[in-house]
Amino acid sequence: MDDDVTRSSVFDRAAAFVSEMWPESGPGSEMHVGDLAWGTFHRWPSAIGALRLWTDAAGQTQVFTMFDGSRVCDLVVRPGRAGLDAATQALDWAESTRAATADGREPVELRVGRRVQSSEVIDLLHARGYERLPFGVPAMSRPLAGDDVAPATVPRGYEVRELRTDDLASRVLAFNAAFPGEELLVDAYQALRACPPYTPRLDVIAASPASEVAAFATLWLDADNGVVQIEPTGCHPDHRRRGLTRAVILQALQWSVELGATSALVRHVSTNAAAHALYESCGFTTACEDTGFIKTLR
Ligand SMILES: CC(C)(COP(=O)(O)OP(=O)(O)OC[C@H]1O[C@@H](n2cnc3c(N)ncnc32)[C@H](O)[C@@H]1OP(=O)(O)O)[C@@H](O)C(=O)NCCC(=O)NCCS
Repeated sequence: MDDDVTRSSVFDRAAAFVSEMWPESGPGSEMHVGDLAWGTFHRWPSAIGALRLWTDAAGQTQVFTMFDGSRVCDLVVRPGRAGLDAATQALDWAESTRAATADGREPVELRVGRRVQSSEVIDLLHARGYERLPFGVPAMSRPLAGDDVAPATVPRGYEVRELRTDDLASRVLAFNAAFPGEELLVDAYQALRACPPYTPRLDVIAASPASEVAAFATLWLDADNGVVQIEPTGCHPDHRRRGLTRAVILQALQWSVELGATSALVRHVSTNAAAHALYESCGFTTACEDTGFIKTLR
């Protein structure tokens, strides 16, 4: 089979599984389709090779992992015995993959999950020697209904609107300025815009008077669950504290409602007080503060 076809079908099957598992934990879920899309395509080349589905004998997906051999192994597990069996296999594989990176000089650690909820998965991780991390990525959520997302005004000269193709270079610059150390490329952004969950209407910016991208928010709609996720959002340092990111988020949430969203999700690292305050100002409250797990392998 054509390699591209196989790869895109892995992404589609992963998206379907992530969406199917969403109701198990709601905003406390390990993943939303937005995490999957952003996690896969914000790199160049994409991280599609890091996606892996673990099926049972009947071919039903029991576990999904996103793991490139470093940092965190994302893990979505179907509840039940078959899910735990597949999770055990996935952890065996992730641990040996990670351990193979050891150079004998520093301890090798493996992180698993971001906000593990399931008691059976927690028991499995404890039995394998994992411990809860003390810090994580809290999830915030808010309901969306009808006209309850109030519009916000922006300073004169700025315009809140959908991202256009001719904004791409500026959009990438704004992202890299907002997140120092990140090196998003236009090629990656183009691939992101071509992935199935991407909705042009939900990629919203505030354009400056000079027509540069000042603030941005990309939203991802899981239409089956009616949940829209903000990932990522930010503001170029030259344009902060003018209400631009709040205006972009509120506009994107309004358009999400028109597309069928009934609730919204966003996450921030626990130390990012500015992001927390921004999301609170957009009506979000903390929904889950559970963290992932870590184990020292050798
Ligand atoms: C967090 C960030 C997106 C805020 O963007 P912004 O355009 O400056 O935010 P806004 O002007 O729309 O602020 C809206 C509200 O958020 C809160 N807020 C924003 N920045 C804040 C800060 N540095 N400290 C405290 N509260 C802050 C305030 O309540 C503010 O309302 P106010 O100005 O009326 O008090 C921006 O600082 C940024 O890009 N940071 C780096 C990237 C990042 O952390 N993104 C979020 C990742 S989850």
